[in-house]
Amino acid sequence: MVLPPLYAAAEELYKAAAWREAIGIYQQIVAAAPREIRAWALMGLSATQAGDLDLAIHAFQRAVGLEPTAVNVHFRLGIALYQRGLMLEAEAAFRRTTELDPGHRDAQQNLAAVLIDQGRHAEAGPLFDAIVAQHHDSEMAWLGLANVHRVLSNAPAMLDCLMRAAVLNPANVATQHLLAAARGQTPQHPDWQYVEDFFDGYASRFEAHLVDHLAYSAPDILTQIVKEHYPNPTQFPRVLDLGCGTGLWGAAVRAVYPGDVLVGVDLSQKMVNAAQARGLYSTVAKAEAEEYLRKGHQTFDLIGATDVFIYVGDVAAIFELVAMRLAPGGVFAFTVEPTTDADKGYVLRTTGRYAHTPQYLTRLAARNTLRVVAQKTAPLRKSGASAEDGLYIVLAK
Ligand SMILES: C[S@@+](CC[C@H](N)C(=O)[O-])C[C@H]1O[C@@H](n2cnc3c(N)ncnc32)[C@H](O)[C@@H]1O
Repeated sequence: MVLPPLYAAAEELYKAAAWREAIGIYQQIVAAAPREIRAWALMGLSATQAGDLDLAIHAFQRAVGLEPTAVNVHFRLGIALYQRGLMLEAEAAFRRTTELDPGHRDAQQNLAAVLIDQGRHAEAGPLFDAIVAQHHDSEMAWLGLANVHRVLSNAPAMLDCLMRAAVLNPANVATQHLLAAARGQTPQHPDWQYVEDFFDGYASRFEAHLVDHLAYSAPDILTQIVKEHYPNPTQFPRVLDLGCGTGLWGAAVRAVYPGDVLVGVDLSQKMVNAAQARGLYSTVAKAEAEEYLRKGHQTFDLIGATDVFIYVGDVAAIFELVAMRLAPGGVFAFTVEPTTDADKGYVLRTTGRYAHTPQYLTRLAARNTLRVVAQKTAPLRKSGASAEDGLYIVLAK
């Protein structure tokens, strides 16, 4: 087999974003020459681009198995593992990269970020400190350090780090969002681009991180609360899942209430793809929840939003539209992070998430003639060593 033309062809396909076809060529190469490190490494890159993280991890592992000192392959392996939500393995790959190349800034930053994702802020802090001491222009490290100071309740230092990140990249909507929160501002809604980018970047590790690591169980808990009040499995044939994410609530609901229609709506295309891949939804629309509700006419028997209003803020319009889209007797079930301290009824926290007061929500329910069926406090997800409680609310039309 003559390799250079094959590599050249694969490279062209890679440049044209034809990742799958490029992978096909690298597979041909390694089938004939299994010790061809370059083909394994390039297959890993193409598979990362294609979103096939399991193949990427396999290919990079084969490459570093053949050449254990290949610094950048260890780094790329770390990225694929991180995106896949395999945090301990990603941490090991980034550590190996920095052992081989102590000046590898991207590996240092990602190592610190992966520690933060594991709730190990105290270990991440000194790493970010060391990066910014050497590289004042590292936006990612300033943002990471802001996160560390938030957890340590060091508000002035958090604000300072965010301001430095904002100077480096004023167009970063995530930084602007966190900066508003750090300054005690509560915009009516976040910049939707922030939410979209955040969840596009989070989708591939969403379940591994949130469910496995943070013990997220809101979809099941909310469904159980609904079931306590509505035990009849034929009660909700038409269901709408606002901010469906990867489809965890849709799956929980369908296990209790098999029905004909399950519609998902989400701002993030990558979340929409993940929900579609579950094969449970009749349709999944890429749309902002309020926009979606405003434009359509279809009615539903159950409308849910688990862990979504924390990214919405003002939910007055959503309540009004949900009330219009519910069939008579229909049910609206959702979770929020509760607070007692919010002038407007909702407040943007320094985590970047909104919290809502129960009074605000019950006032909106009353205004839209929705009756409170259940209002319960139960765990939402882990926050550090403790559980973060959520408020679970069920309303009926
Ligand atoms: C924390 S995830 C929860 C996903 C899912 N409901 C669950 O419980 O697993 C929040 C989801 O809401 C989506 N989202 C946030 N704000 C939204 C909005 N205004 N319209 C549509 N989707 C939104 C995000 O893109 C993300 O997928």
